[in-house]
Amino acid sequence: MNFPAGFRWGVATSAYQIEGAASTDGRGPSIWDTFAAVPGAVASGDTGAVAADHYHRWSEDVGLLVDLGVDAYRFSISWSRVLPEGRGRVERRGLDFYRRLAEALLAKGIEPFVTLYHWDLPQALEDEGGWRNRDTAGWFADYSATVHEALSDVVTKWTTLNEPYCSAVVGYGEGRHAPGAREGHGALAAAHHLLLGHGLAVQAMRAGGAAGQEFGIVLNQSPTVPVTGSPADAAAAVRQDVLLRRQFTDPLFGGAYPDEMTSMFGDITDFSFRHDGDLAVIGQPLDYVGLNYYYRLHVADAPHREPDPAKRTAHDIGVDTTRLPDVPRTGMGWPVEPAGLTTALTDLKARHPELPPVYVTENGCVYPDNENFEDTDRIAFLKDHIAAALTAADEVDLRGYFCWSLLDNFEWAHGYKHRFGLIHVDYATQRRTPRASYHWYRSFISSARAEER
Ligand code: FCB
Repeated sequence: MNFPAGFRWGVATSAYQIEGAASTDGRGPSIWDTFAAVPGAVASGDTGAVAADHYHRWSEDVGLLVDLGVDAYRFSISWSRVLPEGRGRVERRGLDFYRRLAEALLAKGIEPFVTLYHWDLPQALEDEGGWRNRDTAGWFADYSATVHEALSDVVTKWTTLNEPYCSAVVGYGEGRHAPGAREGHGALAAAHHLLLGHGLAVQAMRAGGAAGQEFGIVLNQSPTVPVTGSPADAAAAVRQDVLLRRQFTDPLFGGAYPDEMTSMFGDITDFSFRHDGDLAVIGQPLDYVGLNYYYRLHVADAPHREPDPAKRTAHDIGVDTTRLPDVPRTGMGWPVEPAGLTTALTDLKARHPELPPVYVTENGCVYPDNENFEDTDRIAFLKDHIAAALTAADEVDLRGYFCWSLLDNFEWAHGYKHRFGLIHVDYATQRRTPRASYHWYRSFISSARAEER
C-alpha cells in the first residue's frame, strides 16, 4: 500500500470512556454519570466512574502510545472537569491534567488531536434543557474558548464535536444514550444547537488568533444501502441518509438543510429553533473533517413505530435497519464491509467538492478474546479497512487514520462487555496487555512510513 506523504497514524479514545476519576480534582457530573446510574440504562449497571483509570495512569498510557509508534493521538476533554457547572467557574486542576498529557505527547513526537465534546455534557447544563436549549450552543463556545486559550501553545488540532448525530438522535430521540430522552422536536432542536455550537466555537477559538491552529468536526458516516430495488426502499434509504448524514453534512458544507426534512419531520416540529443567520455560523470554513466509519446501513421501508405522526420520536422515520446482508459480523453484530469506508469517503467528497482535508478519526471492531490475545480477526478487519480508506485517497485529500481504540473502555450503553482496544484492560487490576493487533499495527505503521509516496 502506498500512502500519501505525511500521512498520520493514530489511535483514538474519549474522556468518559477511559478516564474514570469521576469526582476527582473537582470534576462535576456529566449526563453520562447521571444516565449510567439509571437502572437498566447501561448493561450490567456499569458506569464510567473508574473506567480504565486513565486519569491516574495517563503516563503509562503515553508509554504505550510511544511503543506503538503512532504520531497522533485523538482524545477528548471532559467539559465538566474544566467547568464543573458547565459555565462560569474554571477548575484549573482539570485543565492542568490535559496540559500534562499534551506536553508528554509532544515530548515524544505524538501530536494531540483534541475533541472538545465527546457526548459528556455537564449535568448542570442538562438541568437547564441541555442541547434542546439554544443557550447551550453559546456555553459550548465559551467552554471551547477557555480550553483553547489555555492549551493553544501545546495543541493545534481542535475538533469541536464527535458524532453530533449520536448526541442528538441517539441521546434525545432514541434514548439509548444520555440523557435518555425520547423526543421529536427536542432531538431535532438538539441537532441544530449542536451544529450552532460547533460554528460558534470555531468562531470563538479563531478569534483567539493563535497561529497554526486547525479546526474541524468529526462525523459518523454510515453509507445507506436499500435492501431491494423497490422505490419504497429507495425512499427509505433517502430518509435514513437525511437523518444520519445529510442533516449534518448539508448545513456544514452546503449551507442549507436537506429539503426532505420538511416532509419527514413537519408533524413533530415547526423548526422554530432555526433562526436567521444560523446557517452562516454553522458553515464556518473548516481546516479538516474527521470521518468515523464502522458499518453500512441496510435499510427497508417499514411502518412507523408510533402510528400518531405528532407523537413520533426523531428516529422513527419508517425504516427497518435490521435486515443485514450475508456477510461476517463483528462481536457488536455489525456487518464487516470495508468497501463502505471507501464510499463513506467518496460520497462526502462527491456531495461537497470543496470538502476540506479528511482524517478517518475512528474505525475498529470487537471480537471475543482468546487466551493469548491473538486477535487475528481484528488484524484482518483493520488491514482491510485501511486498504479501503486508501482506495478513496485518489479522490479525497486523506490525511490520516485513527484506530478506535487504544484501550478497552466503557462502550456506552454496552458498558464494559465489548472490547475495542488494541490493548486489553483487566478492569480488576487495571493491568494493560497489548493484543496481537497492537504489535501488528506497530509494524504496519513502520512499513507504511517507509513506503510513503
Ligand atoms: C463511536 C463513538 C466511540 C465508540 C465507537 C465504538 O460511535 O464515537 O466513542 O464508542 O463508536
